[in-house]
Amino acid sequence: MNILLTGGTGYIGSHTAAILLELGHQVILLDNLSNSNSNVLAKLKTITGYQIPFVHSDVRDTQTLQDVLKSHDIKAVIHFAGLKAVGESTEQPITYYSNNIQGTISLLQAMQATSIKTLVFSSSATVYGEPHYLPLDEKHPTHATNPYGRSKLHIEEILSDVAQSDPEWRIISLRYFNPVGAHPSGLIGENPQGIPNNLMPYIAQVASRQRSQLNVFGNDYPTPDGTGIRDYIHIMDLASGHAAALDYLKMQSGYIAINLGTGQGYSVLEMVKAYEHACGHEIPYSIAPRRSGDIAICYANPALAYDLLNWQASYTLDAMCASTWKFQQMLHQNNTI
Ligand code: NAD
Ligand code: UFG
Repeated sequence: MNILLTGGTGYIGSHTAAILLELGHQVILLDNLSNSNSNVLAKLKTITGYQIPFVHSDVRDTQTLQDVLKSHDIKAVIHFAGLKAVGESTEQPITYYSNNIQGTISLLQAMQATSIKTLVFSSSATVYGEPHYLPLDEKHPTHATNPYGRSKLHIEEILSDVAQSDPEWRIISLRYFNPVGAHPSGLIGENPQGIPNNLMPYIAQVASRQRSQLNVFGNDYPTPDGTGIRDYIHIMDLASGHAAALDYLKMQSGYIAINLGTGQGYSVLEMVKAYEHACGHEIPYSIAPRRSGDIAICYANPALAYDLLNWQASYTLDAMCASTWKFQQMLHQNNTI
């Protein structure tokens, strides 16, 4: 099947492209390169043997999208394109709503105009807000606390309305927990520009001595070691969840939101320990104040993904850390930092 990946040169998109190609699909990547680099295409060629078609465009350019959907005979779209930094979204809400919501509406218009009605959307566990109970299942009430999260929630609502309006639509929102790790080749992974917002890329940069120490945001949470607990999921597991979602949509129309997580939470200090094991040396850290907006504990109930998609996470925490470390070392070797 020919599949368009918006935001396809990004972290999750590039790994999903690799998995889909392995499964025999054709993929076309579209990205405005605002948060990724086109050199990922050469890396994907090394990994998969394919020169993947790439369109350098913004998803808000509806006409280009329409042309791409038609000319590549696309049968389904995975919509990764969007901005994702929570803090930045509070400073630039208009930019976030424009990229994320306007971008999605533009995509939906192009899909409707070309009668391509199968869509997988990158949502986030952030739509649950402060947990009322754990683990978080899809019935948990939704509540967003920042413009990024609100953009995801609004998009989910829009997608649900669209699917209700026309029974031909087949749409899944995948609510990702915390994606980490890298492709086993070490060629592609997460390499944020500037100071990393997220824990795993920050630890990786401390491990490779680009940064002197990790700041652990709070050790007074109601958790066994006082630090925040999250459901970290290996990027390869997350990527294969998209293939499972597309398979499901072959049989099912309508709209549904499904968690992609492992069901297992780890604390910040447990992550530090696991990474030390992977890289073979100590990760210096100090305790800093809590980060505003953070919650204590967040982990998934992944049962629905298992029941409907026949998917479950299989990579261990050690594999997540080892692959991140391999990718980080290869970045250094290639002087691409
Ligand atoms: P990423 O930044 O690596 O990838 C997103 C890609 O979209 C980038 O390549 C960027 O250049 C592109 N893009 C952004 N706006 C665009 C636009 N208007 N037009 C075309 N391209 C555009 O991020 P990622 O981690 O791969 O995330 C992919 C999706 O998953 C995002 O929608 C994100 O919100 C969602 N998500 C990510 C996480 C996470 O922790 N990584 C968690 C939950 C949800
Ligand atoms: N943390 C630190 N130091 C750091 C970075 C993070 O101690 O330098 C802690 C945080 O306080 C939190 C944990 O590490 O307890 C994880 O933080 P991340 O920033 O890696 O991840 P979040 O759970 O805060 O958020 C991520 C994405 C969101 C997404 C959410 C759920 O950034 O976009 O996962 O999928 F919505």
